[in-house]
Amino acid sequence: MNHPRIIQGGMGAGVSDWRLARAVALEGEMGVVSGTALDSILARRLQQGDPGGHMQRGLDAFPDQAVVERIRERYFRPEGTPEFHRFSGTPMPVVDPPRELQELLVVANFLEIYLAKEGHHGVVGVNYLEKIQIPNPASIYGAMLAGVDYVLMGAGIPLEIPGLLDSYARGEGGEINLAVEGAPRSEAFPLRFDPATVLSSPPGELKRPGFLAIVASNVLAKTMIAKASGRVDGIVVEDHTAGGHNAPPRGTLQLTPEGEPVFGPKDQVDIARMADLGVPFWLGGSRSEPGSLEESRTAGAWGVQVGTLFAFCRESGFLPELKKRFLQAVEAGKMRIFTHPEASPTGYPIKMGVLPGTLARDEEFQERKRVCNIGLLRHLYKKDDGTIGYRCPAEPVEAFVRKGGSAEEAKNARCLCNGLLSAIGLAMEYAGGYLEKPLLVPGEYLESLRTLIHRTGLDYSAADVVRFLASPAGEQA
Ligand SMILES: Cc1cc2nc3c(=O)[nH]c(=O)nc-3n(C[C@H](O)[C@H](O)[C@H](O)COP(=O)(O)O)c2cc1C
Repeated sequence: MNHPRIIQGGMGAGVSDWRLARAVALEGEMGVVSGTALDSILARRLQQGDPGGHMQRGLDAFPDQAVVERIRERYFRPEGTPEFHRFSGTPMPVVDPPRELQELLVVANFLEIYLAKEGHHGVVGVNYLEKIQIPNPASIYGAMLAGVDYVLMGAGIPLEIPGLLDSYARGEGGEINLAVEGAPRSEAFPLRFDPATVLSSPPGELKRPGFLAIVASNVLAKTMIAKASGRVDGIVVEDHTAGGHNAPPRGTLQLTPEGEPVFGPKDQVDIARMADLGVPFWLGGSRSEPGSLEESRTAGAWGVQVGTLFAFCRESGFLPELKKRFLQAVEAGKMRIFTHPEASPTGYPIKMGVLPGTLARDEEFQERKRVCNIGLLRHLYKKDDGTIGYRCPAEPVEAFVRKGGSAEEAKNARCLCNGLLSAIGLAMEYAGGYLEKPLLVPGEYLESLRTLIHRTGLDYSAADVVRFLASPAGEQA
């Protein structure tokens, strides 16, 4: 297969939306849409009046217009503007998702891929997180309905997904098993998605996209190849410098004096051994200098996956004002990225850009009244009465503790759902006037970004990034 050399990493929520993925695909590399929270993103964009009319164009292309009508009816406000933030909610993910949620997921994922692929033959992928299980089956179906070329998945061990892609490709439904805390291993909690629950006449067959697993160790890479339920077409190996979530360090967690996890030699991936797996692999995390691509290829990789450089380009979903402030701080050498061991409800370390006005800072974090109204990172747990409950470390602490969670785990947990949506202009505003604060999760390696903006200025495009990455090592600014 002729895979692209450069993957623009999936960046949730909505940082790599259709616009960025399309811009990268047009440059001949792989543009990746983040599939995270697309249901909320679509519903909120529609309530803001759909500036530019792009959502409407995507909706018009969906094969079942009765479904679209219900979504328009529920969420579209023609009088809306980007200043509107008192959004009505979308259904929270539950083990038996209501039809309204399944429809929204399928349509939102379809639409984002449709727009990313519109008018060209470039390569478009979609990125999901294994940790956010419930929306995945319907979301993946929606993306495949729009002909997505690759599905990329990390933040867990997505063993069941390749087989799910095979079932959908045959025109069948498919299922995954949900992880439920406190349940015995022998007990299964299947979540099934059948295309006929959403579409009146589902297509018989769909294109089977390539599947790339995102992992942080040789062991996991090997497990994916050996045990996945279907074909794994390649592996993206991310190191702990990468943006977003990182795999926790192996062994007992040790912290630096500042409170960041200490990563050691055991956390290094043996690149030479990756080649033994017999599938192409890409390296991610700090692989964003001119020459990184060539160097990675010399080491045996097919190419590189790059996030941070793309996250702050013109076509990314971040609010322009946040991009500018972040890049100014990078230019001035004042931007600090903190790897927080406890801020993410997933339990994984997460990178946070410590910028004033964002949830990375303790002032803003303490000021926020805890509320859980999107619920993507809620953990499922088995209650004493045998039913399934939902709890998120970032919800009100008393509620989390009442449900059997620990106050210690909750103490520093940030609401990523609201923080990430705020960073792309979709912050929720509450009755008292409080507007959710943004959260930025860039990678820690900022040297290449500094070199890039030195060349291009603060307003640069995805095409500039691709040119930069393809330029030879050591080329002068
Ligand atoms: C803002 C941001 C959000 C990210 N979100 C995700 C995500 O949702 N899923 C994922 O697999 N990786 C995510 N990543 C990781 C990137 O896809 C990419 O692998 C990583 O940033 C590469 O390292 P670099 O930033 O040093 O180039 C994110 C990265 C950034 C910068």
